[in-house]
Amino acid sequence: MRVSVFGLGYVGCVSAACLAGMGHEVVGVDVNQVKVDLVNDGKAPVVEERIGELIAEVVRTGALRATADVREAVMDSDISLVCVGTPSEPNGSLCTTYLERVTEQIGAALAERAALAEEAALAEGARQRGRHTVVFRSTMLPGTCLNLLVPILEKFVGGTAGVDVGVAVNPEFLREGTSVRDFFDPPKTVVGELDPASGDAVLALYEGVPGEVFRVPVPTAEAIKYADNAFHGLKIGFANELGAVCQALGVDSHQVMDVFLADRKLNISPAYLRPGFAFGGSCLPKDLRSLVHAAQRADVSVPILSHVLPSNSDHLQRAVELVERTGKRRAGLFGLSFKPGTDDLRESPLVELAERLFGKGYDLKIYDANVSLSRLLGANREYIENRLPHLAQLLADSVEEVLDHAEVCLVGTRDPAVLAALPHGEAPVIIDLVHLPDADARRAEPGYVGLAW
Ligand SMILES: NC(=O)c1ccc[n+]([C@@H]2O[C@H](COP(=O)([O-])OP(=O)(O)OC[C@H]3O[C@@H](n4cnc5c(N)ncnc54)[C@H](O)[C@@H]3O)[C@@H](O)[C@H]2O)c1
Repeated sequence: MRVSVFGLGYVGCVSAACLAGMGHEVVGVDVNQVKVDLVNDGKAPVVEERIGELIAEVVRTGALRATADVREAVMDSDISLVCVGTPSEPNGSLCTTYLERVTEQIGAALAERAALAEEAALAEGARQRGRHTVVFRSTMLPGTCLNLLVPILEKFVGGTAGVDVGVAVNPEFLREGTSVRDFFDPPKTVVGELDPASGDAVLALYEGVPGEVFRVPVPTAEAIKYADNAFHGLKIGFANELGAVCQALGVDSHQVMDVFLADRKLNISPAYLRPGFAFGGSCLPKDLRSLVHAAQRADVSVPILSHVLPSNSDHLQRAVELVERTGKRRAGLFGLSFKPGTDDLRESPLVELAERLFGKGYDLKIYDANVSLSRLLGANREYIENRLPHLAQLLADSVEEVLDHAEVCLVGTRDPAVLAALPHGEAPVIIDLVHLPDADARRAEPGYVGLAW
């Protein structure tokens, strides 16, 4: 394919050189003439493993060249990859200035190209060339492409994105330092496509590259990059905080992590990584509290670990706010124990939720197949009697009793009997705390609100 790559920084340079190495005809564009000259001299403008040899080779064979002329690059290509920087503004917001500018430039060049092609077609009776696709590789917040860049492109092209010009988001997942190696063996390929033809054009670029391919809506592709980077940062922060606590407690943190990492069921696995309701139970809150306390006693600052419980509490509060927003007063709660299949109520987040709603004066009824006051024993019974003394009056004996009572229902369980009985439609309002199995279908219903869409 004939490819133009905008921005010859880390991402653009590696993309341009690797695509040229795969046999595409590539032109790199940068506003920085020094970078353009370096590439045309067969030299890499960035320091990266293997990039020097690769650029020397592809420039020598003519597969890659560089220019500062946007118009020329667009004229000579079928697909444009936008790899310009998106730095932080001083207040932390994302700077989209370079993205906006380059989109305007590409749009204007495309409009000119379309006018020239039309003239030529009229003169020679020739067929018009296929449509151009603009692919954003820069990291940008969800919504940036569709709400900011597509309108700019449409204005300058004078046409409709997805019809007259292809648009896709193809985030970059390569690590600086090993990005050439990663390019040919990426962790995954993600294509956010405005329409299938835009996605096809991107995937044609990567033919033969291994790894799973995900074709998703444009904002999803934008968000995936943030999910990845936030998680990577969180992982490093977690490991370092845990290492510091272990060190202070005289424990070999690497030995701890060796065993931690060997657990592929609960630790290095999809477990606990689906958005849903707050956690609770007799272990997680207690153990986080004592670990953070031990760190504080040892003068070890652990901001990530010490904010896990506040984060959890804020998440629970979001559910309360969803109920408040309905304006209804008669509420039903399905589920009470801290997780399915147990009657353990100690530190159950659903008990905490019931308490907050009760405290705000909601007329509440609760159903949990595993919880009946007569069956609760020992620590559990004592816990509920202290924490929620009015529980007995709030507990219902059946799903129907709650449904008959409630104007708004909070669903905190995937109990099949509850799922089967949940009505569809406007009333009662269903507040889904657990991402119900039919959440995707329910999303379109007027009475459905998801805590974790
Ligand atoms: N560096 C990484 O490892 C990495 C990884 C994944 C994603 N990203 C994202 O990719 C994007 C680019 O990152 P980078 O590190 O390559 O940035 P960079 O700052 O190294 O390079 C950006 C280049 O774009 C050029 N540029 C700016 N405006 C231009 C225009 N109108 N026309 C042509 N060129 C223009 C600049 O001169 C510069 O050379 C960012 O959004 C970044 O967040 C970076």
